[in-house]
Amino acid sequence: MNSKEKIIEKYQSNIKNLKKHNDLYFNKDNPKISDAEYDKIKKETIELEKKHDFLKKIDSVKDIVGATPTNKFKKIKHLKPMLSLSNAFDKDDIVDFIKKINNFLNINKKDIEFFSEPKIDGISATLIYEKGILSKGLSRGDGITGEDILENLKTISNIPKKIEGKDVPNLLEVRCEIYISKKDFVKIKDKFANPRNAAGGSLRQKNPKETSKIPLKYFAYGFGAIEPMKFEKQSEFLKKINGWGFSINSLSKTVSGIKNIENTHQKIDNLRASLDYDIDGLVLKVNDLNLQKRLGNTSNSPRWAIAYKFSAEQAVTKIKDIIIQVGRTGAITPVAKVEPVTVGGVVVSNATLHNEDEIERKDIRIGDTIKIQRAGDVIPQVVSVDFSKREKKNKKFIFPINCLCGAPTKKEISKSTKKKDAVRRCLKGYDCKFIAKEKLKHLVSKEAFNIDGLGKKVVDQFWNLNLIKEPSDIFNLDYDKIRDLEGWGDLSVENLKSAVNKSKIISLDRFIYSIGVRHIGQENAKILAAFFISISEFSKLFEEKKTDNILNSLIELDGIGETQINAIKNFFSNSKNKKINIDLINQLNISDYANKNEDGIFSNKRLMFTGGFQNMSRSEAKSIAENNGGKVLGSISKKLDFLVVGDTKPTKKKIDQAKRLKIKIITEKEWNKILNS
Ligand code: IVH
Repeated sequence: MNSKEKIIEKYQSNIKNLKKHNDLYFNKDNPKISDAEYDKIKKETIELEKKHDFLKKIDSVKDIVGATPTNKFKKIKHLKPMLSLSNAFDKDDIVDFIKKINNFLNINKKDIEFFSEPKIDGISATLIYEKGILSKGLSRGDGITGEDILENLKTISNIPKKIEGKDVPNLLEVRCEIYISKKDFVKIKDKFANPRNAAGGSLRQKNPKETSKIPLKYFAYGFGAIEPMKFEKQSEFLKKINGWGFSINSLSKTVSGIKNIENTHQKIDNLRASLDYDIDGLVLKVNDLNLQKRLGNTSNSPRWAIAYKFSAEQAVTKIKDIIIQVGRTGAITPVAKVEPVTVGGVVVSNATLHNEDEIERKDIRIGDTIKIQRAGDVIPQVVSVDFSKREKKNKKFIFPINCLCGAPTKKEISKSTKKKDAVRRCLKGYDCKFIAKEKLKHLVSKEAFNIDGLGKKVVDQFWNLNLIKEPSDIFNLDYDKIRDLEGWGDLSVENLKSAVNKSKIISLDRFIYSIGVRHIGQENAKILAAFFISISEFSKLFEEKKTDNILNSLIELDGIGETQINAIKNFFSNSKNKKINIDLINQLNISDYANKNEDGIFSNKRLMFTGGFQNMSRSEAKSIAENNGGKVLGSISKKLDFLVVGDTKPTKKKIDQAKRLKIKIITEKEWNKILNS
């Protein structure tokens, strides 16, 4: 190699490196080297370019380097959680959504008024105004805690820095979606995969000057905390803040009835390509804010809103292979490896085949030409096989009956429906290394321990290097070894260390969700945490002599059924689970479950409902009780404080039992009186 070739090689390797670290920083939000390390490569590359003109023809370092990667932003707890939305994909989903709202409110109204807004595909942020002055600006983060990106948000020219008017609330929190226009994206498209990533990357620049270089825009779509709260409708709120200088989307409007919703959905979908910003659906929100309040939220999303996605993007490709993946619950999922194809702007090379029955039903074979589709963030799916292109050599796929670990798999029979499950499962739990690895990925995920810098890929890397095999290993990492690994440096190791340490303090409900008991999602984990309160009580499930007793008392919890009880029983009777989780608990500081509404009128009281109410559904009554500090039980026991009896068809047996146990009975009339007082 002559010296010119050597210079080119060095230059290209530096450019590659800078691009890689830009990607880690901007797109993956996971910087792996320090400012100084990045600057060193940058400086060296610029000098090479200055010295050797011929390099300028190859690339230009100026086009590549953004701001210097730096440490994370300050974290701030949101005044109100930033939730996400559940999705609807077709008319049936919307009909179902409207039905659920009716059921919850105990009404029968097909034409509830919704406010329909385009769902902007950008990055969400929240702006807090105190006495009209923009005082905080946060990213969504994990929904509970965001990052302080105020200075960056301030660079967006039409975000009001000060709002004036006599009716401006003392505290006003405006939620908005930040985006980059399609036109502006064209100018910087080499640096980012799509406009959404570009907006995210720009917003997360430590130096706000860098943010101001990428022209960001925004639409305000909602509110967080407001004091005093005087708005009555979503439409009214948006109109008002528009008057105060906020940009709102002009395609938003009120709509009611399934026919009008369908028309609006179609109309906006038709406009989609002509808009200068990306949208991926409509958001339908109950317009009446009082009804929104009554409907409230589930764990992650409001009951009063839904994202009605546009139809999935489709593409044709060929199956190269079918492989098997093992999930954390042991589910064996077949995955089609396909010839890479772009679907809706994203290159797809895998598509899920769901299960054995699906392969059989659609007669999917290796070598087949297939249609695949991708809707939103959902994993791409195989829609159909083009049988006219099938070749004789494409043989039927024989579904393996053993797990990748070698153990036989089983299709379980549901205890309640008595039907055979479509999914094959490996039942080895932590004894199957494939399941174990997936369990670790679940444990570190956002809704569980939420360890920054320890995502799925890092779990894979650490697993392969034997750095983590069990949950407790996460808290005993060999940081010196990690520092020497490719892609790691002093800064990233320090960040990881502090993220791991911080995650040791965890609430009981998060902990229960994290350990991955089958059928125990976030909602059930909260119910269990509210029952056990402390880790020491919860740990009694590991004591063989006590388990049955505890399981019997769980039956009384509203929301916990036979399926969950069996899953808990299986989990805690497994000796490996016992060892692994006790080792984990020993590393942690698990805080008692705190009912955030414990000061309410039902504080520390246990209630049960029987019969229907005139003005509200059972679900609403339950949520009112919980929001006011109460616990709702599913069966009568001595521990019950109140049995609330609705006028419509209450169960006589329950009333008699309650009377016998001297439990206070509350009639529907009394219940309404308590709520109105
Ligand atoms: S309302 C309680 N309205 O979508 C959640 N969200 O999946 C209320 N988004 O985090 C969200 N356009 O970043 C709402 N018109 C719109 C939106 C919108 C985009 C984003 C937002 C949110 C995510 C929810």
